[in-house]
Amino acid sequence: MAKLWGGRFTKNTDVVVEEFTSSIAFDQRMYREDIAGSIAHATMLAKCGIIADNEAQAIITGLQKILADIEAGNFTFEVSLEDIHMNIEKRLTEQIGPVGGKLHTARSRNDQVALDTHLYIKREIKDIAGRLMALQQAVLELAEQNRTTIMPGYTHLQRAQPITFAHHMMAYFYMLSRDFRRLDGVWQGADIMPLGAAALAGTTFPIDRQFVAQQLNFGRVYENSIDAVSDRDYILEFLSFASILMMHLSRLSEEIILWSSTEFNFVELDDAHSTGSSIMPQKKNPDVAELVRGKTGRVIGHLMAMLTVAKGLPLAYNKDLQEDKEGLFDTIDTVKFSLTVYASMLKSMKVNGQRMLEVVSNDFSNATDMADYLVKKGLPFRQAHEVVGKSVRYSIDQDKVLAELTLAELQQFSPLFAADILEAISIDSCVKNRNSYGGTSYSAQEQSFVTARAILAQQSEKIIKY
Ligand code: ARG
Repeated sequence: MAKLWGGRFTKNTDVVVEEFTSSIAFDQRMYREDIAGSIAHATMLAKCGIIADNEAQAIITGLQKILADIEAGNFTFEVSLEDIHMNIEKRLTEQIGPVGGKLHTARSRNDQVALDTHLYIKREIKDIAGRLMALQQAVLELAEQNRTTIMPGYTHLQRAQPITFAHHMMAYFYMLSRDFRRLDGVWQGADIMPLGAAALAGTTFPIDRQFVAQQLNFGRVYENSIDAVSDRDYILEFLSFASILMMHLSRLSEEIILWSSTEFNFVELDDAHSTGSSIMPQKKNPDVAELVRGKTGRVIGHLMAMLTVAKGLPLAYNKDLQEDKEGLFDTIDTVKFSLTVYASMLKSMKVNGQRMLEVVSNDFSNATDMADYLVKKGLPFRQAHEVVGKSVRYSIDQDKVLAELTLAELQQFSPLFAADILEAISIDSCVKNRNSYGGTSYSAQEQSFVTARAILAQQSEKIIKY
């Protein structure tokens, strides 16, 4: 097919080159943004007297027809027309005649593709923000249902101190809240309108960039035309947000995979969210959590790829920048899918509180509480640590836990032990007494739920403005 830029060429493009340089296979998903951007541009050209009103009208009607055709499946994308921009422009001219060729006045594909990608990412951010909130909601509900479910808290994957399952889940809630805050930052970074930069230097026509920005709901315009066509920070910011979010989901996945093993038996995933083995009839595998953990690698890969593509590029546009889209689109799809499948997996997950309590009652998770008890009786913490360490050693040798030692046995290590020690190291006390702000106690937890609800309300306010 004849090229829109064919004037200075005497030979046809090699078919392999055509296929290699083409982006239509993936950039066709920005057709709505491309058409919306072109309609805004044509409207502006007429308003500024650069083209006639009836010309703009013909262009806009033609573009609307193309939009309807694409949505109805009546549009064949041509590889020989390289990208979404030229596929649409070519069809426009076929439909309305040479006046279609006026659309590209004061514009280049360099600012056009930047505009499309900005619009696309803004639309997807709104969608992702909703899904992220639905996951936060699911996490919060799971926590609220497990206010008094006690589990072992870990450091080094060794049992450390008793916590509530709610407190553990709320750690993820707050991680996801920071993800939301980062996503909001990405939206701000994408809310800048590049059109009017043209190829790189601006244009000789009396255009109105603010008018285009208003029509397309952008808060700002790029201050520098070279920056406008060279900037991919907003894509990098999105990929960074996505990588950190996926890393969080991957950590939770790792825990869910461990917890659902027979060895832990802390949770049970619903049959609808697990898969079987083709050979071992007894298996029920946590594939969703494993795949989310696996896909995290791919999203981080897209971030690394884009940083690497951008790092050596001279200003302004270089074809290398076409490499920004596949990783971005794949990341958007992966994040959306992961968020949604995760929320439903958590909603149907059963928490085995009985088992976790049993585990934490038969270990030394209350050792810190025993040391704190001695400190409250006047012993310096370092000495208390030593006394309890010896008590633990003694208990292990006797095949007992601390609560099973008699008062006489304990008093070998310190005369400060009295009858109230049993109450002080009961699992319930261990949780209840960690009442510092942000701690695992039941009352601190209630405060954390209130804060979480306030965060969700603020986030909803933000989404409305997107
Ligand atoms: N398909 C191109 C891209 O994705 C559009 C911009 C092309 N501009 C150019 N001068 N070749 O980046």
